[in-house]
Amino acid sequence: MTDAGEVRNQLKEALDSGLGAVEQAVDLSTLEEARVHALGRKSALSRARSGLGRLSEDERRDVGKIANDIQSSLEAALEHKRALFTAQEQQDRFERERVDVTLPGDEIEPGSIHPLTRTIWEIIDIFIGLGYRVVEGPDVELGRFNFDALNFPPNHPSRGPTDTFYVGDVNDDKVLRTHTSPAQIRTMQAQEPPVYVVVPGRTYRRDAMDATHLASFAQIEGLAVDEQITMADLKGSLQTFARRVFGKDLDVRLRPHHFSFTEPSAEMDVQCFVCRGSDPRCRLCRGEGWIEILGCGMVHPFLFEWVGYDTTRYSGFAFGMGVERIAALAHGIADIRYFYDNDLRFLSYFRGLG
Ligand code: PHE
Repeated sequence: MTDAGEVRNQLKEALDSGLGAVEQAVDLSTLEEARVHALGRKSALSRARSGLGRLSEDERRDVGKIANDIQSSLEAALEHKRALFTAQEQQDRFERERVDVTLPGDEIEPGSIHPLTRTIWEIIDIFIGLGYRVVEGPDVELGRFNFDALNFPPNHPSRGPTDTFYVGDVNDDKVLRTHTSPAQIRTMQAQEPPVYVVVPGRTYRRDAMDATHLASFAQIEGLAVDEQITMADLKGSLQTFARRVFGKDLDVRLRPHHFSFTEPSAEMDVQCFVCRGSDPRCRLCRGEGWIEILGCGMVHPFLFEWVGYDTTRYSGFAFGMGVERIAALAHGIADIRYFYDNDLRFLSYFRGLG
């Protein structure tokens, strides 16, 4: 056989075996193997092409054209299959990743402001409206500020480690504050009158927990010091507060009480907003007609002397209230422990209020 005939035969075989390989490919990766087999450097086509050099110029042109045509045919066959497999793989992936957009989504419950936080904000807001500013004190407080500066007698029972949480050794004088009143001292030490501040904060007592007591609870303190502050200012300010929280035409009354840091001292009651004193069997006031809401009084001169205020020039009043109690009264909640259970059935009741 002539050289040209031999190369033609080789080319024919290269075409057949190349098409055969393409034909047998079943996916993109076996198709790539077929491409190497049909067109690669070691393919029958390459080998046949290398025989072209032995041919005369005319033969080389003819047979070379055949070689090019075969290459084009093989490339076309490969491309055709590649397009097919690519479309197929995409289709498979779509099937695998199919999402049923008609399925219901996961429900995400919106959170809400905790009822105690809400109550703190509400109370603070009222006093901001009366010209007060908000300050805070530390939860770990010096006994000096928590007791001494507030005129507690040296042997007062609440100073003891059975009533108060001590941090470290009892002699270190560090306690978890038992009330927000030490912030009165810190505020007065830091500035001259006029003082109008409210102090929200967490407080701690070694109390057994029940429906009305917790070992950790929230208070809001208030302090007003200025020239010519009288008990009428105290009553007027706190009445404004009580009416905003509990009802706009309710009366308040002051009952004599004792706190070492105020003189005179009082507890303030608001008229029962359920029965207004008309129901001897009222569930809220138990026929009393009044509900205790806070402690208050005129700042004791002992405190002014302790911080270096001029007692002849300044007078003031202070008050303190338990946030859980106010929130429980305002929302008719019988047990303040509910505020700390974090039961969504309870918390979601407050969602969207106010
Ligand atoms: N600190 C007092 C208490 O915890 C409340 C109070 C504050 C009373 C300010 C009078 C003045 O019970």
